[in-house]
Amino acid sequence: MELLNRPRRLRSNQTIRNMVRETRVSKSALVYPLFVREGSNIIEDIPSLDGQKRYSPDRLSGILTELTEAGVNTVLLFGIPEHKDEIGSGAWDENGAVQQAIRSIKQNFPQFYVITDVCMCEYTNHGHCGILCGHQVDNDKTLEVLAKTALSHVKAGADMVAPSDMMDGRILAIRDVLDKNGYSDIPIMSYAVKYSSAFYGPFREAAGSAPSFGDRKGYQMDYHNRREGMKEAALDVEQGADIIMVKPALSYLDVICEVAQSFDVPMAAYSVSGEYAMIKTAAKAGLIDEAAIVCETAVSIFRAGADILITYFAIDLAHYIDEGRIG
Ligand code: PBG
Repeated sequence: MELLNRPRRLRSNQTIRNMVRETRVSKSALVYPLFVREGSNIIEDIPSLDGQKRYSPDRLSGILTELTEAGVNTVLLFGIPEHKDEIGSGAWDENGAVQQAIRSIKQNFPQFYVITDVCMCEYTNHGHCGILCGHQVDNDKTLEVLAKTALSHVKAGADMVAPSDMMDGRILAIRDVLDKNGYSDIPIMSYAVKYSSAFYGPFREAAGSAPSFGDRKGYQMDYHNRREGMKEAALDVEQGADIIMVKPALSYLDVICEVAQSFDVPMAAYSVSGEYAMIKTAAKAGLIDEAAIVCETAVSIFRAGADILITYFAIDLAHYIDEGRIG
């Protein structure tokens, strides 16, 4: 055989395979979602997310130590309030779970970079992501409470806010309120391209945030659409988003790829609760090799073009990077 090109030459052992890896994965690109619930002395398992827990703000030190030892220094906080109401007023309570957690992290683990999810669905008694007008979420009324919520997180010490509500104009509204209050240096990571997805099921169990009627299709995107995703991303970049996100990740690698190529801002992908739960459950049933699948799926998200990965597997991935399995 007179073959000039033999791609197998670069696959002959692990050293050369690692040398020619096209996708590099670094711990600094990993973000760990963390559920904080109001109350004290609580660490409880989340049944829908095997291995994940809810913590009260006073019991975060164990998980933060574990993250530090693994080399993951960025968290994305989700709050679970004790009481909910029609307008979700717990979201901007300066003594809410998220606000308390931020202060505690900043005091005890100042090296952490704290991002907060800004949304109303965990705080409203109807479970929708904003203020209702009849059975619809009123866009512009919701902007006010989102901005108030973002400001309260930043006042408590958050390093970055991440609105996940999908209202039109929220980036502008949040940017405006932060700037007016002297926080022009605080970046916004926008859940810019967020699809209405069944993959959020286990999260809604975890956060108690499932809508009590209807669904989120009136504000989250229809998964048939890719062009519309580019439009959403463009609008958020125009309004001042510093980082844009695509969510979920695994069923949306085409969208991740196109957003990454089309915009000059860093891009995050969120591998959501349903993706985590599917892997965990299949592994538990002995059907797949969990570590191998976690590595393969995470690398696929970076290969598609994501710069940042938000994942419940962040600690595991950090270990796999240490072991040289990926990276
Ligand atoms: C809040 C929010 C959700 C998720 C992140 N922020 C739930 C939703 O939109 O219903 C989902 C995260 C996950 O599934 O891991 N709006």
